[in-house]
Amino acid sequence: MLENKNVALYVSGGIAVYKAADLARQFIKQGANVKVAMTASAREFVSPLTFQILSKHHVYTDTFDEREGDQVSHIHLADWTDIAVVAPATANTLAKLANGIADDFVSTALMATTAPVFVVPTMNSHMLENPATVRNLQQLEADGRFVMEPDTGFLAEGYEGKGRFPEAVNIVETVKGFLRTQLNNLPLKNKQVVVTAGGTKERIDPVRYITNDSSGKMGYSLAIAARDLGATVTLISASRQLVQPFGVAFVQVDSAKEMQEAVMQAYEQADIVVMAAAVSDYRPSNQAVEKIKKNEATMTLTLDKTTDILAELGKQKQHQFLIGFAAETNNLEKYARGKLKQKKADMIVANDVSKPHAGFNKDTNEVSIFMADEDPIELSVRSKQEIATEILRVAINQMKK
Ligand SMILES: Cc1cc2nc3c(=O)[nH]c(=O)nc-3n(C[C@H](O)[C@H](O)[C@H](O)COP(=O)(O)O)c2cc1C
Repeated sequence: MLENKNVALYVSGGIAVYKAADLARQFIKQGANVKVAMTASAREFVSPLTFQILSKHHVYTDTFDEREGDQVSHIHLADWTDIAVVAPATANTLAKLANGIADDFVSTALMATTAPVFVVPTMNSHMLENPATVRNLQQLEADGRFVMEPDTGFLAEGYEGKGRFPEAVNIVETVKGFLRTQLNNLPLKNKQVVVTAGGTKERIDPVRYITNDSSGKMGYSLAIAARDLGATVTLISASRQLVQPFGVAFVQVDSAKEMQEAVMQAYEQADIVVMAAAVSDYRPSNQAVEKIKKNEATMTLTLDKTTDILAELGKQKQHQFLIGFAAETNNLEKYARGKLKQKKADMIVANDVSKPHAGFNKDTNEVSIFMADEDPIELSVRSKQEIATEILRVAINQMKK
């Protein structure tokens, strides 16, 4: 996605300047050409030499240091740029960008650039909350700049707060996500895809719950695959242990009931719904408010059936393409074909979870795809990410029929 893209990295003077060196490296690793411009304050923290060595280009620092007779440096950099990234963006530099001030190389070149500009505000949390900064960030968004959320955590000042420089890979992923949306030939462009993932948790009491072995990996892979095929994706996750994918709207849930509510809310707008979550079939009839004490020798837990979300989606289906999953240990085809019919699904992806390379918690999977009146499509063992892309490609072909 970033191969041969020209990235102009504008570095202003915050304590996180050293992290921008890693950011430059990450862009280069992805195949981008990187040129760096630094403010005078940024140079107080890290020498331009660091960025010069990493980028293999002269670092721009002074508007009037015109080295080439036939070009004006700040215009040349601005015109060369495919993507501009201001990171770290100080309160001062983002204020200049929001208000059209061009009084040094960075602000002047940014004024001249017509490329998409990503701003990574990085500062003390009180500076970030300052009404002027809030106003400036709103202005930048209104001007069509892409403002990234700073991270929350331990600040250089010694206390917790929002304003940290995000992980470099996350900045790169955000830029890649934007570039992806610019591609017009992606098969799921303008499509809304809803994916559920993970095993739901049904509370017995405040410290105990019923769940299952689903890690959420298959669902997360499907959300990433749908995003990369151009879709607008909502991932409804009962898993909390995986890294939230970039460029995907994320809804955290715990119980089957919460998952049902979230899916139903997204259903009308959805073009494709992939129910990859392992939703509990039963929940405790009563959830104890306080921790249950071990007073008795035996204990009976009464369970109620939860709503079958896939069946409910089937009942309310209009234009949506419904993909369900079946994790079985025997009679795969019989169960999968039964599910297809009873739940009015368009496709059932079945996996034999007793196999060593398939199912819960694994990084690989091996599945059979069932559709009405067609032979199953067998996908042999491969990564869940590859399986996810294949499943969606089959769905895309099926939707064209
Ligand atoms: C040690 C130190 C750390 C600083 N860290 C930040 C920061 O993280 N974010 C910020 O907006 N300003 C920070 N500043 C203040 C800026 O350097 C200052 O506002 C400067 O004028 C910014 O100039 P520039 O935007 O041209 O780089 C820091 C200053 C010092 C001395």
